Amino acid sequence: IAHEEIAPRLLEWYDSHARALPWRIPPGGERPDPYRTWLSEVMLQQTTVAAVKPYFKKFTRVWPDVDALAAASDADIMAAWAGLGYYSRARNLVACARQVSAMGGFPETETELRRLPGVGDYTAAAIAAIAFRQRAVVVDANVERVVARLFAIGEPLPGARKAIRSATHTITPSHQSGDFAQAMMDLGATICTPRDPRCLLCPLADACKARASGEATRYPVKPAK
Ligand code: ADE
Repeated sequence: IAHEEIAPRLLEWYDSHARALPWRIPPGGERPDPYRTWLSEVMLQQTTVAAVKPYFKKFTRVWPDVDALAAASDADIMAAWAGLGYYSRARNLVACARQVSAMGGFPETETELRRLPGVGDYTAAAIAAIAFRQRAVVVDANVERVVARLFAIGEPLPGARKAIRSATHTITPSHQSGDFAQAMMDLGATICTPRDPRCLLCPLADACKARASGEATRYPVKPAK
């Protein structure tokens, strides 16, 4: 199928298969706010969806917006983070909340978001796409695997990242790029899994070059040891 057909196909699949996650808005709801998007994406760096869920719920119950979080003490935030790991994220979280609160809210462009403490390329793109509805190219490990397979990118990681980013760019729609990114992540987490992809259930199976080659799990190619 043509590249332009990939996003509509995936978005249609997402309509009925999106995982119900606490930081997502139910169908027909408002767009997710930047605070909840930022908080969830920072928690999801290096941590599984299952582990993040209860922490996300607790944080948003205790601190419903960025001003509330900015006003909390370091000790209370570190205590609430305990168990999630990678504690530099919690220190950056406090610094970022205070900076954003002092600025009067989250900046709306990927470039400005990227300057905030603890916000890297992935997180800036995710917030711009999901909360601000901008076209942004969002690539995490799940997206990397799905795209490497779709296009059968044979170069080993990490060198393949450039080709993967460029291929992701060509299939990212200008509208709904936040839904598109989350659909790619859900596809990677539930269907296009590392070892045992469920190609029979995949909405993109007929577009997938790796599947056509009969070796979906060969991609992305690991670096030679
Ligand atoms: N992993 C990181 N961010 C995610 C999101 N928004 N949806 C699903 N999985 C994710």
